[in-house]
Amino acid sequence: MTDAAIDYARYDRIRPIRWTGEALELLDQRKLPFAVEYLTCRTSDDVAEAIRALAVRGAPAIGIAAAWGVVLAERAIETNSAADASRKLEPALDRLNAARPTAVNLAWALARMRGALARAGDDWRAALEREAQAIDSEDLAANRRMGALGAALIAPGSGVLTHCNPGSLATAGFGTALGVIRAGVAQGRIDQVFADETRPWLQGARLTVWELQQDGIDATLIADAAASHLMKTGRVQWVVVGADRICANGDTANKIGTYQLAIAARHHGVRFMVVAPSSTVDMATPGGEAIHIEERDPGELHAVGGSRTVAEGVAAWNPVFDVTPHELIDAIVTEKGVIERPDEGRMRAAFGASAGSAP
Ligand code: MRU
Repeated sequence: MTDAAIDYARYDRIRPIRWTGEALELLDQRKLPFAVEYLTCRTSDDVAEAIRALAVRGAPAIGIAAAWGVVLAERAIETNSAADASRKLEPALDRLNAARPTAVNLAWALARMRGALARAGDDWRAALEREAQAIDSEDLAANRRMGALGAALIAPGSGVLTHCNPGSLATAGFGTALGVIRAGVAQGRIDQVFADETRPWLQGARLTVWELQQDGIDATLIADAAASHLMKTGRVQWVVVGADRICANGDTANKIGTYQLAIAARHHGVRFMVVAPSSTVDMATPGGEAIHIEERDPGELHAVGGSRTVAEGVAAWNPVFDVTPHELIDAIVTEKGVIERPDEGRMRAAFGASAGSAP
């Protein structure tokens, strides 16, 4: 079955990022699932703060938001010269880039915006807006393509487990891993979907099961600690996750907890699929040990839903990503194709010697 067979009117309804022509509206993911509210960003610093505070999150989504952030920064610059604009915009680009460190899509999108400006003439403002729109639209198209490619790997009647929120909310729309799950459900390949809570920020519990529910897809929530037990019952054949950075050897950074899922999957004979657009591939980083892993406020572990659950004075460590070694990955799916049993040779064959997705 091809992606043309998927009813997108039914399976692609959520848009977390809206450009109005004057402002950027972000579906505020801190408030979901009980309030569906858009946060209005009028400056690039509003966008940087929204990324830092997780109002918008997920690797592709923060890249897209940052691209529109550059368009907002351009509104505050007075010059007709693209070269002058390029100098004047740099501090705003630096602040956007510093908002979160692990997802390469952020730096990738800013590099694309810099490239568009470098190529532009007097129409540099329009060129930046066109580039941001292209980054946004290409992400949606990539997700739909990956949905079809990834679903084709899944045998009819399968169960799948996903982690964090690799969905519409984390992208321009349709999602990466959730795009594969949407396509797999639409094609009758996936019978059962399980989602991890994803502590401490609860992307699975607050976002993934809500977003699938919007499309009429029943997903069963499990505690993160229940994943190995679930695999042992034989109810899942694939773990399907997104990625924040895929290195030149296939090592993959994703939400904390992904690595232990990959270990458990291998132990139980469950297959492990990473789904991400080529904008997440970073051929300039040789392996996972070189990835900067974001650490967030330990307070995220001290409280649940704003209520303190841990005694005062207890230390907490809160790394929010981990790296899954490529040996534990059965397939990496990008819009360019499927890489089975990824390693450096297969990654280089697919993405070339330089940064795979760098503009
Ligand atoms: O901290 P988050 O919520 O931004 O982390 C997001 C993830 O780890 C996702 O799994 C990843 O970005 C892939 S989403 C398409």
